[in-house]
Parts: sequence; C-alpha cells; structure tokens
Amino acid sequence: MSVSKKVYLFANWKMYLDYDESNILANALAGASVNFAKKIKMVIFPSALSFYPVAQVLDDIGIASGAQNVHFEDRGGYTGENSAMMYKNAGAKFSLIGHSERRHLFGETNHEVHQKMETALSVGLTPILCVGETAKERKGNKAKDVVEIQLRAALDNLKWKPKDKLFIAYEPVWAIGTGNHCDPIEAEKMCVMIFKMASMLAKGLEVIILYGGSVNEGNIRDFLKQPDISGVLVGGASSKLDTWLQIVQNVC
Ligand code: 13P
Repeated sequence: MSVSKKVYLFANWKMYLDYDESNILANALAGASVNFAKKIKMVIFPSALSFYPVAQVLDDIGIASGAQNVHFEDRGGYTGENSAMMYKNAGAKFSLIGHSERRHLFGETNHEVHQKMETALSVGLTPILCVGETAKERKGNKAKDVVEIQLRAALDNLKWKPKDKLFIAYEPVWAIGTGNHCDPIEAEKMCVMIFKMASMLAKGLEVIILYGGSVNEGNIRDFLKQPDISGVLVGGASSKLDTWLQIVQNVC
C-alpha cells in the first residue's frame, strides 16, 4: 500500500556522521535519487562541519538541506556557534529550531527558541519548530500543557510572509533515539492539538505537522496514515543508506 498524500521526509543526521561519512551518504543519495517519487519532499540536516559539501551535492538533485541549529545573532563573539545568516549564505533552506536535544542537553529555553525562530525567518530560512514532552510530563498528564507553552512562546509575534509554511515537528522526548516510538494514534491526537493551536497562533499560514521519535522502515506508514501527520523527522534511521532508502521505498 502506498501513501497518497504529499509527504515530507526530513533527515536529521545529528552528530552521527563524520565529514567523510556525510559526503559518502550524500553522494549515495544522489545516486539513488532517480527513484524518489515526486510526492516526496526530502530535506537533509547534516552536521555543521559537513553542511556545505553535502548541500552542494544534494542541491544538484533537488534535495534541500538545513541547519540542525542556529544562533540568534548574525555575527559576534559566540565561540563554536553558527548563525542563521551564515547557514543561509552557505545554501541552507531550512533550520531545525528547538530540537529536544538542544532544549534538554544544552539548556535551550523557550525564550531562546523564540529568538531563533525570529532570526531564521528574518534571513529567509524556513524553521522547523520542534516541540514535545518528557516521559515524566506525559505520566503527569502534562503533555498538552507543555507543548502548548512551547508553541505559544515560540510563535509569539513572528513576522511571517503570506506564502510561508509553518512546519512543526512533534517529537516526544521519550521516543527519541529509544526505539520506543509513540503510538501513532496517540501521536495523531497530539498533532491535532498542535495543528489547531498553531493555526490559531499563526493565522493564515499553511501549517504542516511532522512526527519524530524512533521512526523506522517498519512504522513509517502507520504514522503517515494519520490525517494530521504530513511527514516525519527521522534521526538514527536516516543516517544509514539502507534504512533511509527503505523508508523512502515504503512511502512510494
Ligand atoms: P530518532 O529517529 O533517532 O529517534 O531521532 C528523532 C529525532 O530526534 C529527529 O530529530
């Protein structure tokens, strides 16, 4: 059974691949790209170090690239950081903003997430806002509240252009990198809530919701069957050629 709607397949390579490995995978994807169906919109998020050569290879075959994270200033004394402006300059079209690993491992606050949304939009990068609750928050019945707070903070008073698309990735923290994916029906419930809230906070924009968290070739279709899930943001399974191509295959 194939999936009939337009599908967004976003690959977050995190810090899984070194420079050579990233280039090898990008070239392998380029070699395999003839098989990608038109309904698939693929975006790859390589490491900062590998970004430029990977983006060049992928650009040639119509696959966009994005930053995994950006700093909210354009330039300055921020050792080790890269700005949205610099990514844009190097060919990025997208940026993940507020990924749970940034929030939970590097202490990124809702306020900083908002600043990064602002700066991404100001330089012309399309942000992919990531939201999601921890296991403790879910157990305490707080998942919706936490995600609502994240959405309100991130989307407050942003300057959108009429044709911009608002991408939001629902990534429950407990499902990321654990092999323990969220039940697709449960994910759909959260995505409906996110869709409604985001549509209210960013009036007039097309809102596109992705799911992320232990997506693999075995469960991809169960997520895409859900009416409010338009695509996936994949970590581990996107960093290996065989599993990523299998995911693509299962969507075609
Ligand atoms: P995994 O697919 O490895 O669970 O990672 C999900 C994720 O964090 C994508 O941004």
